[in-house]
Amino acid sequence: MSILEVSGLKKSFGSTMVLCDISFDLDEGETLSVIGSSGSGKTTMLRCLNFLEFADGGRILLRGQPFYDSDDPLDRTPGVISRKITHIGLVFQSFNLFPQYTALENVCLAPRINRAKETGYDEGKIISEGKALLEQMGLEDRMNHYPHQLSGGQKQRVAIARAMAMHPDILCFDEPTSALDPELTGEVLKVIRSLASRKTTMIIVTHEMAFARDVSDKVIFMDGGRIVEQGRPEDVIENPKNERTIQFLANYSNG
Ligand SMILES: Nc1ncnc2c1ncn2[C@@H]1O[C@H](COP(=O)(O)OP(=O)(O)OP(=O)(O)O)[C@@H](O)[C@H]1O
Ligand SMILES: [Mg+2]
Repeated sequence: MSILEVSGLKKSFGSTMVLCDISFDLDEGETLSVIGSSGSGKTTMLRCLNFLEFADGGRILLRGQPFYDSDDPLDRTPGVISRKITHIGLVFQSFNLFPQYTALENVCLAPRINRAKETGYDEGKIISEGKALLEQMGLEDRMNHYPHQLSGGQKQRVAIARAMAMHPDILCFDEPTSALDPELTGEVLKVIRSLASRKTTMIIVTHEMAFARDVSDKVIFMDGGRIVEQGRPEDVIENPKNERTIQFLANYSNG
């Protein structure tokens, strides 16, 4: 079943159109990788799914229900956004942890704020869930460390736990390893692989082609704000049909 259906998404900054007619579907439990050269619109697309930007054309359905409609001004209002924003999580390239909070506090912060108004607010449950997520990320001995006491790979794993703490329907990653040394990249990719094997629905913008090929159910190649090729990784990455995809992957493998 489709968990996400994106149709005709458009976004301009001033007179520059950076997303032109982006359409794709994602099924529950699938991993989608998004590849493409710098400036092709990958981050902008993720930001539109997370409402950090508002697409100025197109529609998004989540689990078959209207999630965003560029023609409906209500969909840009804070009240509506705040109810929807927890459905799609985002892990940033540069981690964006709060420096004044420990790893555990970073993970527990959003659930605390989000559940504060609920009857039966349970601080103990929030903390035990936060600890379980950090354990799942292999960080059981780093829970009370501050971000400056953590390596880049550890920080990124805290950021992944923090995004998962809101139980999003879809977890998005924007180049999750590109700020990391090669030896720390592996530990983050391992965590993402394990999420994929547990059928977490994910959208991953990445330049790690081997990883994208191994872990994804679908791959999208973007160029100039358009999806020029999409399909199974063995097609898009191993046997690209479009001239631009072929060129991009060739440059890539030449380093
Ligand atoms: N807030 C903004 N205002 C104006 N232009 C923007 C803004 N954000 C992005 N752009 C432009 O939109 C285009 C797409 O940018 P985007 O960051 O989505 O590309 P990208 O595919 O993520 O690139 P990279 O691989 O370098 O991260 C670029 O030309 C960029 O300069
Ligand atoms: Mg980007």
